[in-house]
Amino acid sequence: MKILVTGGAGYIGSHLVTELLQQNYEVVVVDNLSTSSEKSLENIKKITNKDFKFYNCDIKDIEKMNKVFQENKIDAVVHFAAYSLVGESMTTPLKYYDNNIYGTKCLLESMIENNVKKIVFSSTAAVYGEPKQVPILETNETNPTNTYGETKLAIEKMMSWCDKAYGVKYVALRYFNACGAHPSGLIGENHNPESHLIPIILQVPNGKREFISVFGDDYNTEDGTCVRDYIHVCDLADAHILAVNYLLDGNESNVFNLGNGVGFSVKEVITETEKVVGEKINSKMAERRAGDPATLTASSQKAKDVLGWKPKMNNLNQIIATAWNWHKNHKNGFED
Ligand code: UFG
Repeated sequence: MKILVTGGAGYIGSHLVTELLQQNYEVVVVDNLSTSSEKSLENIKKITNKDFKFYNCDIKDIEKMNKVFQENKIDAVVHFAAYSLVGESMTTPLKYYDNNIYGTKCLLESMIENNVKKIVFSSTAAVYGEPKQVPILETNETNPTNTYGETKLAIEKMMSWCDKAYGVKYVALRYFNACGAHPSGLIGENHNPESHLIPIILQVPNGKREFISVFGDDYNTEDGTCVRDYIHVCDLADAHILAVNYLLDGNESNVFNLGNGVGFSVKEVITETEKVVGEKINSKMAERRAGDPATLTASSQKAKDVLGWKPKMNNLNQIIATAWNWHKNHKNGFED
């Protein structure tokens, strides 16, 4: 089976490519390297001892994408290529509409033109916005509170209309808080600017910042800080492979949440990180960050029942340990 991975050099994409190669799938990566590094692709080859085709190409370039599809007989697409910084999406919304929505429109166009009609899509818990109940089910109301989530929801709808019109079958995977790194320590999270909790906490023991700011301790949670559902990037990769097979087996389009179903507060994550790195991590209380819901946890029962997904890394300490294993040797991401 030959799988095209858009955004395959990025954080979650690189973990999927590694897993696909290890499970003997043929892989073609398309990435414009705008927010990722080609070094992650080199490191995937080191981990797997396998090769794959890479096209430095923007998904908006339909002509080039048509060539990719003509040169490779693709069975299914896994689509990560997108901008994903919530804060940035609020200050430059049109950049997100252009890259995420228009980009996916172009990708779907070239897929349809080349008769490739199966796509697994990287969606997000941000499609739900402020939840009325937790754990969140796929049937919950979708009401994004940021442009990033809005673009991902619009793409889910675009795929649904393309299913009706052209028979494009899709699986949208709504991740909660993706975190951790490959056990090899050779690929991991590397955003610029970094805004995610665990990498930011780890910047303290790495000597890159003096303290972590805790955004609000007056939420309606046990210790007053926000509660999130942290899910390991390798478990996310597993879910994508199950979703690809679900589509290749001829199943209908579907949507799944991906989380551990267990919530940890910001304070709990800091305490657990202290245990992993073996030192005190300085923190300071700060103002709430705009748009943060108090608690976000997933019900992933549907992914377990329908896809047979079994997340393996459900221990926060273990998850943070994999992140630390990556960050301590890559203080400057792939530049180290
Ligand atoms: N936080 C801090 N200090 C920091 C950084 C984060 O206290 O320096 C807090 C946030 O306020 C939040 C929690 O840590 O309460 C987690 O924040 P992240 O930025 O790591 O993650 P989010 O929950 O905001 O975002 C995640 C994904 C997004 C996705 C969103 C869905 O990273 O891609 O869930 O709501 F859109």
